[in-house]
Order: sequence, then structure tokens, then C-alpha cells
Amino acid sequence: MTVINVLKMGDPCLAVKSKPVVDFKSNELQMNIADMIDTMRHYQGVGLAAPQIGLSQQIIVLEVADNSRYPQAQSIKLDILINPVILQFSEQKEAAWEGCLSLPGMRGRITRSVSITYQARNLAGEQVKQTVKDFHARIIQHEIDHLNGILYPQRLNDLAEFGFEESLPAFQQINRPDVN
Ligand code: NI
Repeated sequence: MTVINVLKMGDPCLAVKSKPVVDFKSNELQMNIADMIDTMRHYQGVGLAAPQIGLSQQIIVLEVADNSRYPQAQSIKLDILINPVILQFSEQKEAAWEGCLSLPGMRGRITRSVSITYQARNLAGEQVKQTVKDFHARIIQHEIDHLNGILYPQRLNDLAEFGFEESLPAFQQINRPDVN
């Protein structure tokens, strides 16, 4: 198990477009993905993009299972998306609080499409296409942004909706365990 240090906002590696994966048979790819999964789980992330551990490659991993950082989120089984592209964004959008392991302790309220259709390669290099909604769609939009060098603060509508978790009353309200 290898947990890698997650790069923080300001690191130039987080601000550049990642390169597509071309060799699906390499041991290096398998090892990098295993490190990404270990790192995401260790830091209680619901997703992680390769640039966050310093790899300029179009790979994202996601998983939601009893996550203390997102206590009310739906469960999502472990998924690995390679060279993902969003084919369609729903016109319907929704604002919600997001966090990011590259901005520890902070949250921002971001407006994103409620559902998306994406295309990606799986670990075997096969093409997959899927439509997902709600938190699942949000995670994928957030992670694909990382592959394009975009961090969520760049998508804020209002800087007043950005700050430290412990200081944001609006964020605390929606995350109180007794609130549905
Ligand atoms: Ni992030």
C-alpha cells in the first residue's frame, strides 16, 4: 500500500492539462492506479485525479462508502476512468458544497450539471459510456476538471461561498448529521 502526498493548490502540476494514457498494458499504469486508490481511501476522498499525486495522466478514481467527509452522500462503488470525456451536460444545474484533497479543510459552493454522459476507457482499455446523476455526476465533473488543470475555486460564482469548513455556517448546516 502506497499513500502518496497530495499536491496542494498552487502547485504547477495541478494547473496543466494531463496527457492521455496510451499504454494500457504497462505495469506502471496498474501501479499508479493502485497508489491513487490507496491515497484516495487514506485521505477519505470520494475521488482523486492523477495530477493530484503528480502524474500528468488522464486517470481518475472514485468511490463513496461511508465517507466521513460526505456523510450524506449516496454510495458509489470503486470506479477507474481513463481518458474520460464528458459527451453531454444536462441543462439542469444544481449548486452544492464541494471539497478537494488539494485544498484541505476548505469548501466551496459550486454549480454543476445535475447529470452527465461520459465516455472513458476502463483498466482493460475497453471503451465505456455511461450517464450518471447527482453526486456521482458532480464527482466526475470535479475530477475531470483536475485533468484540465482546473480546481473548484475557479468555478465559484461567489467568493462568499468559499472558506474553511469550521467557519462556514451554511456548510455546517447541511452537513449536520441530524439534517436530512
Ligand atoms: Ni479535487
